Amino acid sequence: MSPLLKTAARLLAGRTADNREPPAQGGPEARRAHQLSLLEECLKRLPAAALPRNLKLSFSVAEAADCPDISHVELLSARFENRLYPLNIPEETFVRMWVERLASGEYTALLAHAGNKLAGFVAFKGPVEEGYICALYISPLFFRKGVGRTLMELSALFCRAEGGMRLTLKVEPLNYGAISFYQSLQFRALAVKSSHLIVFQKELLPC
Ligand SMILES: CC(C)(COP(=O)(O)OP(=O)(O)OC[C@H]1O[C@@H](n2cnc3c(N)ncnc32)[C@H](O)[C@@H]1OP(=O)(O)O)[C@@H](O)C(=O)NCCC(=O)NCCS
Repeated sequence: MSPLLKTAARLLAGRTADNREPPAQGGPEARRAHQLSLLEECLKRLPAAALPRNLKLSFSVAEAADCPDISHVELLSARFENRLYPLNIPEETFVRMWVERLASGEYTALLAHAGNKLAGFVAFKGPVEEGYICALYISPLFFRKGVGRTLMELSALFCRAEGGMRLTLKVEPLNYGAISFYQSLQFRALAVKSSHLIVFQKELLPC
């Protein structure tokens, strides 16, 4: 991703150009510290069998500097979603939207990295314990390598660790690949929302 977009994302998030943190503010810093410790705890609990066999992944909680990569992966990956209404949004607008989403504190995104590449990400909207997943996008370079399944396992642990009982998400009706994917993870279709999206849900087992 271009250094220009990364700098723009940092500036939008209130970081200085030389990447120093903005002045301390209790809320966002405490939230980030909590998310990082939650991720560490969940990674310890993630069974080795849940990780891809032929791909070494590392994980992080998204911050503003990740937004260009997140947007890039989402826009590439969304081409395979068979959306009824395709995403025709310029990448810069998408980056700004993700920066604003993360800064609002309403969204939490977990990233899977393969070396220095973003292999995919999953994002919660609203409190993690409510378990509403608003985005899961794997870079097409990494399709069918187990990245999606691993991110969903991690999301389940993340949500459960916050006291959540279920994961819920919406899928495009013609996105047959994703429908098979969620079914393979024991999600079940519940209803149709916003006139066309299929709601999938999975109850979580206690930790
Ligand atoms: C759907 C998506 C998230 C799956 O992620 P992934 O990392 O490619 O999937 P995984 O390798 O973890 O697949 C796990 C299992 O799900 C099923 N599966 C995954 N993709 C599938 C596909 N396209 N067709 C049929 N089954 C599929 C398979 O059972 C697979 O196991 P297998 O490869 O051993 O047969 C990914 O393809 C993607 O990002 N697609 C575009 C964006 C999208 O649709 N996002 C979801 C929006 S709700």
